[in-house]
Order: sequence, then C-alpha cells, then structure tokens
Amino acid sequence: MNEWQGGIKLKYPRAKIVRALAGFFGDDDRRIEHALRVLHHADNLMSQRDDCDPDIVVAVALLHDVGIKPSEEKLGHNNGRTQEEYGPPVARELLESLGFPPEKIGVVEDIIGNHHSKSRFDYPELELLKEADRIVNRDEKV
Ligand SMILES: [Fe+2]
Repeated sequence: MNEWQGGIKLKYPRAKIVRALAGFFGDDDRRIEHALRVLHHADNLMSQRDDCDPDIVVAVALLHDVGIKPSEEKLGHNNGRTQEEYGPPVARELLESLGFPPEKIGVVEDIIGNHHSKSRFDYPELELLKEADRIVNRDEKV
C-alpha cells in the first residue's frame, strides 16, 4: 500500500510532483518556470470554487506540457496536437512512480490529452487548467 491509498494522502504532493517534473525536464528552466506559474494560477482559481479535486489540479497544472519533450525528440517539433498525444503516457509514468492515487491518473491523462483542443470532457479541472494556462501564456507573451 502506498502513501495515497487507504485514504492517506501523500505528504507534500507539490514538492513530489515538482521534483519529478524537474527530473524530467532537466535543465529546461523555461518549461519548469511555466509549470510553476500555471500551478500558482491554478491554486488561486481553485481557492475560488469547491468543485475541483486538488490532487488532479496540482498534477495537471505541473505536468500538462510534458508532451513537449518527447514530441520534439521524436518529431523534431511540437504543437498542441502532438503535446496532447505524447503528454498523457509521460504523466502516467511519473505519477505512478510517485504513488499518486491510481483511480485519478486516468482523469489526469484525459485532461492533459485535451488541454489544447475543444473540451471533450466536462471535468471542472480541465476548464480550470485551460484558464490558468491562458493567463500564463498571455503574461509570458508580454
Ligand atoms: Fe502550458
């Protein structure tokens, strides 16, 4: 039994997922900074509503763009569609390695696989991620 199961939550989920994210992106500071900014806004947006699962929000905020790296390695480029294609299996592997609640990983995969296109799911965490990412992408353009 891992730390998340049996109703016991993983301690310090942000720290654990950030560590996994940093290990994955290595010295790509721009991607890590972006993920942290999205997490900041996602946390703010989540504090204004009560219909989101915090585990899912933290995981999708930090891991939503992990598809960029395998897409660039395999195809030499990335775009919204390839990020959606390559991201979910990477997120699954990272979260499984942390003992993240297994029953929530499918939702995380659905959201990461849909965060750049018209929503196919009605998870509140999907709209929240899209909004947080929009805010950060707008700020980063300035
Ligand atoms: Fe993003």
